[in-house]
Amino acid sequence: MELSFQHPRSGEWAHDCRDPLREARFTYVAPIMERWAMADASQVRMLEVGFGRGLNTAMACRMLAETGFDGEITSYGCEPNPQFVQPWPAPPAEIEAHAPWWGYTVEDLPIHADLHLYPLSAAHMFPLLAANSIDWIFLDLFSPAKHADDWQPELWPGLANVAAPGAILTSYTCARRVRDGLEQSGWRCEVLRRPNYRDTLRARFLAGDAPKP
Ligand SMILES: C[S@@+](CC[C@H](N)C(=O)[O-])C[C@H]1O[C@@H](n2cnc3c(N)ncnc32)[C@H](O)[C@@H]1O
Repeated sequence: MELSFQHPRSGEWAHDCRDPLREARFTYVAPIMERWAMADASQVRMLEVGFGRGLNTAMACRMLAETGFDGEITSYGCEPNPQFVQPWPAPPAEIEAHAPWWGYTVEDLPIHADLHLYPLSAAHMFPLLAANSIDWIFLDLFSPAKHADDWQPELWPGLANVAAPGAILTSYTCARRVRDGLEQSGWRCEVLRRPNYRDTLRARFLAGDAPKP
């Protein structure tokens, strides 16, 4: 069965179907780890906006384990459409040990010990998170071109509010609208261009350089 899933209206796939786990590794996690001072870190607090099946969070936990990281990991996510991810396929071996939420349903969505998963849109989740409390953000909503409503105006001030100083965000979309939203709320964006790989967005939160919206 497919590891990815489709938006029921548009049919858009939630991942790069050629290899969703490769996308998680190279689009979302590796670009953050390249810039994160792992040696100095005693904790990583990560947030997946558009949690779906949580491939990016699981891959991040796996890759942290690969580095020998023994600090504290706290994961957050928001998924307003938990029904989109049904039915679940078998967990992929590469991340199975790092995805204890695998197979969640609407009913048991909030009860995973290692994950604070909210059945809410980002706009409704942000007020529940502490300010300056997130280090890594995976911004993984369906495309802004076809799903403009998912990119709520509250997204930009909300991200800036929860981001800790020096937080790093990654996304598969480099759309102008997304870069503008981030830049105008205190992030410095960078488009990573790599041979034989799609462009990727990486942004660092410049705490202090811009007022929190
Ligand atoms: C591209 S998929 C994410 C795939 C996911 N990261 C994974 O690993 O399976 C986008 C997800 O964002 C969710 N979504 C839609 N609108 C949202 C919003 N306003 N806030 C948060 N998530 C939203 C969708 O239901 C969908 O599951």
